[in-house]
Amino acid sequence: MTAKILDGKALAAVLREEIRQQTERFTAGTGIQPGLAVVLVGDDPASGVYVRNKETATIKAGMKSVMKRLPAETTTEELLALVGELNADASIHGILVQLPLPRHIDERRILDAIDPRKDVDAFHPENVGLIAQGRPRFLPCTPYGIQQLLIRSGIETAGKNVVVLGRSNIVGKPMALLLMQKGPGGDATVTVCHSRTANLNEVTRGADILIVAIGVPRFLKADGVKPGAVVIDVGMNRIEEDGKARFVGDVDFDAVEKIASAITPVPGGVGPLTVTMLLNNALTAARNAAS
Ligand code: GUN
Repeated sequence: MTAKILDGKALAAVLREEIRQQTERFTAGTGIQPGLAVVLVGDDPASGVYVRNKETATIKAGMKSVMKRLPAETTTEELLALVGELNADASIHGILVQLPLPRHIDERRILDAIDPRKDVDAFHPENVGLIAQGRPRFLPCTPYGIQQLLIRSGIETAGKNVVVLGRSNIVGKPMALLLMQKGPGGDATVTVCHSRTANLNEVTRGADILIVAIGVPRFLKADGVKPGAVVIDVGMNRIEEDGKARFVGDVDFDAVEKIASAITPVPGGVGPLTVTMLLNNALTAARNAAS
C-alpha cells in the first residue's frame, strides 16, 4: 500500500478563500476590519519565517496585520507592557505572541496577560478551561487545523482509536481534548503517549489514526504504525542533510508512507492549516467583539 497524501496546503487555500469572503462580508456589514497583532521577540530564524507567513496570510484575508518585532533583550516587564497596550487597542481583535520566547522571559506571565477575548492561540487558562468543558471560545490553531483536515478528507474519527504522540500545551493536550469531544471530528477513543511511555511502539501500533507531535526528527518509524493507519505529522524540524538545510517532520515519511493509508507531508501538511485556523480565530474574535 502507498499512502494517500493529505494535502494540507490545498485545503488551506480553500479554507482561506472561505475566510476571506466571510471577512469581506463582516467588514461590509459592520465597518469593522478584523485586526491581528503578532509579537516576535528575538531573532530565531524559524520563528521569523512563521511570523512572516502569518502576516502575509492576514493581509490576504482582508484583515489588518500589526507586526511587533522586539529585540532578544526585551524584559518580561517590557513585553507585559506591550501586551497591555494591545489589550487596550480596540482595532486589535487578536493577539499572538510567537513561541518560544527567549529563556529569560516568563512565558506563563505573558500568555496569562493576554485578554482571553483576544487570545487567538487559545493558550489562556480561561480558554483552555472552556475547551476542556466542550464550550470553546477559540480552538487552538494546530489541533483545529488537523481536525478540519480529517473531516474534510472524509476520515471518520468516531469510535476510532486515535493515538496522540506528544503532550505539549500547544498540540498534544488540546488535540486529545478536541478528539474526545462529541460531534464531527470527535467521538474518538483517545490515548496520549509521550517520551516516557513504556512500550511506545505497541501503543502507537494500536492507532487507527496517529497524530505525531513529539518534536524529534523522523522519530516515528514504520514499526510503530499499524498497516492502513492514518498518520498526521505535526513536526517541523530543521536538519542538515547532505550539506543542505531542510525541514523534516516527526515521522520517517519514506518508510511510513509505504504502510499507512494516508499521511501528511512536511512541509505542506499541517503547517499551512495552523495559519489558516489563526485567521479563522481572528475573525471569530472580531465577530465576538462586535456582538
Ligand atoms: N510556536 C509554534 N507554534 C505556535 C503556535 O501555534 N502559537 C504560537 N504563539 N507560537 C507558536
